[in-house]
Amino acid sequence: MTPGRRAARTFQELHGRAPEVVWSAPGRANLIGEHTDYNGGLVLPFALPYRIAVAASPREDGLVGMTTVDDSGHARAAAPVPLAEVEPGDVTGWSAYPAGVAWVLRDAGLQREGVELVIAGDVPSGAGLSSSAALECAVALALLDLAGRPVTDDSDRVQVARWAQLAENDFVGAPTGVLDQMASLCCQEAHLLLYDVSTEEREQVPFDPASEGLEVLVIDSGTRHEHSESGYADRRAGCEQAVKQLGVTSLSAIEPRELPERLSQLDPALRPLARHVVTENQRVRDTVALLRTGRTWEAGALLTESHVSLRDDYRVSCPELDLAVDVAVEAGAAGARMMGGGFGGSGIALVETERGPAVRRAVTDAYRAEGLTDPRFFSAVPAAGAGRDLDR
Ligand code: GLA
Repeated sequence: MTPGRRAARTFQELHGRAPEVVWSAPGRANLIGEHTDYNGGLVLPFALPYRIAVAASPREDGLVGMTTVDDSGHARAAAPVPLAEVEPGDVTGWSAYPAGVAWVLRDAGLQREGVELVIAGDVPSGAGLSSSAALECAVALALLDLAGRPVTDDSDRVQVARWAQLAENDFVGAPTGVLDQMASLCCQEAHLLLYDVSTEEREQVPFDPASEGLEVLVIDSGTRHEHSESGYADRRAGCEQAVKQLGVTSLSAIEPRELPERLSQLDPALRPLARHVVTENQRVRDTVALLRTGRTWEAGALLTESHVSLRDDYRVSCPELDLAVDVAVEAGAAGARMMGGGFGGSGIALVETERGPAVRRAVTDAYRAEGLTDPRFFSAVPAAGAGRDLDR
């Protein structure tokens, strides 16, 4: 059963009526362009065929009711939140995401009534595939629809992404960029989204690796290191410091040819951060150029270069991701890298479809040899972005 159907059916069972609206939003993978979003740079994500769906109807008592339902139909309700009074810090755990979105829309003057939400999904959680952004985006779209402002237009979606990011930054308290929300809202089937965070320019880049005999393999390392949140915030703060020292608008405003001079003006500890951001933006441009000319296989080398930069300069990888990347490349992948915030979560590898099973086996064997739990693999086919869930 699709998440949308599961959410709608559970809503009916719990509340004795059908939900007024059902919206869903996907998790994402990012082909390349990591830790560039909050540096005003370029990202190149695609939507995964896994989604979070939200079934919703208004409630008259001013409360936000939130229930999740898992695959086996087990429903779990969070304590209802009073919309008019809720403030950051009041809600913790998974329900902070939907409550945060209601809070943002309340302050934007768009959410005036209470609401009942039932949430179902199949985005693997804890794998760094943005299940939380998918949840925020699906909730935002459902609430806006109930408020008489259904989002269909592409241009409105950037605003929704910003609201969802605001919920995550200011209500949940995670200082993330806008990559995950933009991917969930604006990606299209069989395409990558090239997004420039500074200019807000967007372009859909056709991406059909299967037509070139290739697949994008997502490798969930099954690990998440404790310092992932502090590490992310620390890198972000380092970049802000570098921006100040250089007097630039963002690290992405630095051209690759100016890099050596700019680096020499920086505190040595901050140089690797700036180098990563500037070179990573260039790798995104180079990747798009290769994809446009049907040279997808060659883009693999850029993925591996991205990994090396994230590992050595940005220092956000971890032994489990390094192992997955090294072994995937040894086993014949065109390239591989860690993906997302880092310190655990997933990596991706670009592989020939027929070598896929061998790469999977090699990574699994290497994990076992290190006494690690088996990684999980998903073949990631670019899917549709968020929308009204009609399949119910
Ligand atoms: C996490 C954040 C994103 C982005 C990536 C790194 O996924 O949520 O905003 O910064 O890390 O590229």
